[in-house]
Amino acid sequence: MSARDLLKPATREEARLLDELDPARLPRHIAIIMDGNGRWAQRRHLPRVAGHRAGVHAARTVIETCARLKIPALTLYAFSVENWRRPKAEVDFLMRLLREYLRKELPVIHRNNIRLLVIGRPQQLPREVREDVAMAMRTTAANTGMQLVVALNYGGRTELVDAFNAILDHVRHNGMDTFRVDEQTIAQHLYTAGLPDPDLLIRTSGEMRVSNFLLWQIAYAEIYVTDTLWPDFNRARLLEALVDFQKRERRYGGLSPSEPREFSEQALVGRRTRG
Ligand code: FPP
Repeated sequence: MSARDLLKPATREEARLLDELDPARLPRHIAIIMDGNGRWAQRRHLPRVAGHRAGVHAARTVIETCARLKIPALTLYAFSVENWRRPKAEVDFLMRLLREYLRKELPVIHRNNIRLLVIGRPQQLPREVREDVAMAMRTTAANTGMQLVVALNYGGRTELVDAFNAILDHVRHNGMDTFRVDEQTIAQHLYTAGLPDPDLLIRTSGEMRVSNFLLWQIAYAEIYVTDTLWPDFNRARLLEALVDFQKRERRYGGLSPSEPREFSEQALVGRRTRG
């Protein structure tokens, strides 16, 4: 099977990129820091909110493309716990935009067998947003296709705090005096419990930061940073990221298959002299 069997290219560039892709080695989970909406708008002398609106269009394209490529999970960083520091009018606009997105796109998401999950601290979100999110999650709960995860009022550190407190509650409630935490315990108490860890983290608009996003889960993720601003991140740019991902050699702290395996003083000396 070729990637063209999954996705019909709309341009020559998309066709070329699809031909480079191996559909059997696509990431199981892509996480995206969608950055650059403000700069996109600024460059066009438009208000920042126009950038966010264009950002929704990019999100729609990426969601559709990932679903067609049968990527099992996609996580989008839509609103961080730090984003409350923005002007109230911008925060209100982002909340309205999210509700509008859910209202318009939920039927499409549901029809495409996509399951929507929201991660973060919902308690602090406006009631209407909480209700819309709960409804969208209920409606799509039994869907078996791509898991679309929207990080909303999300922070990587707050997620770890919430996980540790949930573990402590569990231990106290069950009087488990000798209980010890391991990696699996932590992973099972994160908002993302049950999802594979992201193997590809994409950040748009050039900044080399992880910005408190999925701190535990990205331990072994390949990081792809592009200068493209989020509203310009189209299907070709996503395919480009996937082609780049497939060129990486993932070693998880081990050696590549081509490296000699012997562990002798001789080999170590040889290595040291090679610098
Ligand atoms: C960053 O741009 C983007 C955000 C704050 C998130 C908002 C994302 C969207 C509106 C996309 C829609 C997503 C969904 C799931 C519907 P920025 O304002 O930080 O840009 P700047 O760094 O150029 O100022």
